[in-house]
Formats: sequence, structure tokens, C-alpha cells
Amino acid sequence: MNQGEPVYSGKAKSLYRTDTPGQLYVRFRDDITAFDGEKKDVLTSKGSLNAMVSAKIFSLLEDHGIPTHFVRMEGDCGMIVRDLRMIPLEVIVRNIAAGSLSRNYPVPEGMPLDPPVIVIDYKDNARHDPMLNDDIIVTALRLVSREELAGIKALALKVNEILRRFFADIGITLVDFKLEFGRDADRIFVGDEISMDSMRLWDAATGVSLDKDVYRLGKGDVLEVYREVAGRVRTGDGQK
Ligand code: C5P
Repeated sequence: MNQGEPVYSGKAKSLYRTDTPGQLYVRFRDDITAFDGEKKDVLTSKGSLNAMVSAKIFSLLEDHGIPTHFVRMEGDCGMIVRDLRMIPLEVIVRNIAAGSLSRNYPVPEGMPLDPPVIVIDYKDNARHDPMLNDDIIVTALRLVSREELAGIKALALKVNEILRRFFADIGITLVDFKLEFGRDADRIFVGDEISMDSMRLWDAATGVSLDKDVYRLGKGDVLEVYREVAGRVRTGDGQK
């Protein structure tokens, strides 16, 4: 892949043009960051682990009829994806209270949330990704129509059901995760990544974290847990 200059570089991924119009190459780098980029490190092979898991999850979603940007895996740490016009929303689905929900509200960590709680943040680093509501999204920011927002939430819940089942089968509890969406023409697709950086995963037997919280909270060897999840995701491949 002749990469040239990235068209966009985020905290852990870079996007490049390809020779195919409408498609981009996304490279998962070995960078890991937390707390708005205040904590950062480079962990060899982290990029390839997240790329593999993301690719597997996107194919699983496609198999279940969810429209995603995923085209194919490219090399060890990359994917070819549909070039979307990204909508600056972080759509978080929570099955169990943890993280910012328990930090910001009197909701104890570990409390099951049924039905799942959807939280939508504005993707804007400089503003520290503030939480939105429907009126701010539709009327003030004009990011999507009310119908599109309903469609995005329905898609997020569908993704949740698919992923919950998939992870339960490999002994992992899906606590919460973040999705991003983008448009190609008038259609909305799931974009970005779905990896250990963007999900909160707890071992079903022991309750220990198997995700970026290990890095955020200094709870151990993050590469080791990413390897553990990647290994289980690989074996869970046949269980769609
Ligand atoms: O920090 P918080 O509890 O709000 O995160 C909820 C979920 O969304 C976690 O799984 C976290 O990894 C993910 N997230 C993310 N990118 C962000 C914020 C949260 O992937 N910018």
C-alpha cells in the first residue's frame, strides 16, 4: 500500500487515500492515549490487535445486515473502508454502569442497565466531548434529522444485541461501547473502529477489565489483555 500523506490522523489511527474512489485505507497505529491525550504511549503490536478485532466485528455486523464502512482487512494493521462523511457524534451504549456514568452521576459501578442506556457525546476534543441531547443534536447543531437520529439509536441497539451475544459466547461481558456514524450519499453507516479502545469488556468469570481501562487506570499489562481478547475473538469467529 503506497500510503503517502494521511488525509486525517487521529489519536490512534491514520486515514489514507487509495487508488479506488470512495475507499480509504485506515492504519491502526501502536499509539495508545487516555484522558484527552494527556497520557500516551506506544505499544508494539497494539495496532494490529485492534485492527484484527475491529475487522472481525465489522464482518460480524455486516453478516447481520448492519451497514458498516468495512470493505476488507488490509495487511496486519489496516482496513479498507468506505469513505464516509463522518457525523461528529460519539454514540455510547451502556449495559452496565461504569466509567463516566458512575463518575458523573450517582449510579453505582456494576449496576445493570435494562433497557440499555444510550449516551451521545459531541465529538470535539477542544470542548472535551460534551454530552448532548436530541434537541441540541437536531435543532441546535443540525447534525442529523430527528428521523436519522432515531435510526442511529435503533442501529446502535441492534449492534449492542449482536455484540453482547458474540462476547457472551467467548466469556466476556460487554459493559459499554462507542460507535461513530457517517454518511455515504444519503445512507448512514457505522464507521470508525470497534475495538478494545472503544469498548468496556469484563471477563465474565472474574469481572476483571479486558480493555483500555487497564491502561487508563494502570491496572496491569494492557497488551496482555488486548492479546487475550484478540485470541478469544479469533476463536469466537465461527459462532455467529
Ligand atoms: O468514558 P466513558 O465511560 O464515557 O466511556 C464509555 C465507553 O465509550 C467506553 O467503552 C469507552 O472506551 C468508549 N469511549 C470511546 N471514545 C471516547 C469516549 C468513550 O471509545 N472518546
